[in-house]
Amino acid sequence: MAIVSREGVRYSDLSGNPVVKETRRVSREDIVVDKGGHRHFMLKEIMDQPQAMTAALKDRADFANSPADVMQLERVVLIGCGTSLHAAQVGRHYIERLAGIPAEAESASEFRYRDPIIGPRTLVVSIGQSGETADTVAAMHLAREKGATLITICNAEESQAARVADGALYMHAGLEVGVASTKTFVASLTILQLLLDAETTRRLVDQMARGPGLIGEVLAEANLYSSLARRIGHYDNFLFLGRGANAAIASEGALKLKEISYIHAEGYPAGEMKHGPIALIDPEMCTVALAPRDDLRDKTLSNIKEVKARGGLVVAVLTKGDDEAASEVDFPLFIPQAPDLLMPLVTTVPLQLLSYYIALLRGCDVDQPRNLAKSVTVE
Ligand code: F6R
Repeated sequence: MAIVSREGVRYSDLSGNPVVKETRRVSREDIVVDKGGHRHFMLKEIMDQPQAMTAALKDRADFANSPADVMQLERVVLIGCGTSLHAAQVGRHYIERLAGIPAEAESASEFRYRDPIIGPRTLVVSIGQSGETADTVAAMHLAREKGATLITICNAEESQAARVADGALYMHAGLEVGVASTKTFVASLTILQLLLDAETTRRLVDQMARGPGLIGEVLAEANLYSSLARRIGHYDNFLFLGRGANAAIASEGALKLKEISYIHAEGYPAGEMKHGPIALIDPEMCTVALAPRDDLRDKTLSNIKEVKARGGLVVAVLTKGDDEAASEVDFPLFIPQAPDLLMPLVTTVPLQLLSYYIALLRGCDVDQPRNLAKSVTVE
């Protein structure tokens, strides 16, 4: 179990003997977090995602930004690192589609060292679980100096990010103990959909209320991922492919796999495959493709066929009932049909479960992978 106090998180066995030390400062109150009967915090946090989404939604349902304010914006720049950068990349799609405002996503570690063209009509949105990531906080200071409007989406209240920003939107995801971010990613995506004008927010809240149930449907089949891990967990190279918002989810899937199982994995926009990565395809390469039923499904299916034609193994996340696509791949992973905007929240869950079970199979320290810290507070 983990005991969370003012000083940080202490791990102990059930008799209270310390197991591992960690120096993260996460909460003002002393609270005890257990694994809820799961073997690892990461699995518990994956399983907690329907509740995390509900909590993030509940807070946003009352949000009342005026559309007029939104109209004053020229541009939205989303920044973050690691998983939070992937959330920013999905957020970019949401903002352009829902608010019709030009949006871009950038790694905070790059943004802070260039001279970005931003000003009072730029909204800079920083995303971070901890609110303490050094690169993200430094990028926020830069945005502030340049006069941008600055908001942060974060899980940790009273974090540096919350102090620097003009406004903070909290995830309310509860403590995330596993080093690999899972439920805070889903919470970030939830808030990103409901970021701008109040009218869109009100319209979307009903549709988004289906999200926790859809994620729950995937989680109910977690055992399938454990069996699949046994079939593919010996591959040493993985290529994750997706299009649109699912290109960011492909990158997130690759990040999850590499950080907890130490397997080489790359996330790529599927349309880029022919510009280089296709040379890597052979029977030793496992490709994980995201091809749910949406406007881009047929395009990704063509990529899948190209991989199969070169002898590669294909695992694909597909919409239930898509037998045509399933017949083209080695291992179909079915998810429920979901509205387009909710799709990235649903497609990310199979990739988290797959990474978790592969790491488990390989005997890796899932909650505390080597060389990684939960918050990266130094450069
Ligand atoms: C990946 C992961 C890291 C963090 C990154 C940013 O699972 O946890 O890549 O996403 O270090 O951390 P935050 O979100 O706290 O700024």
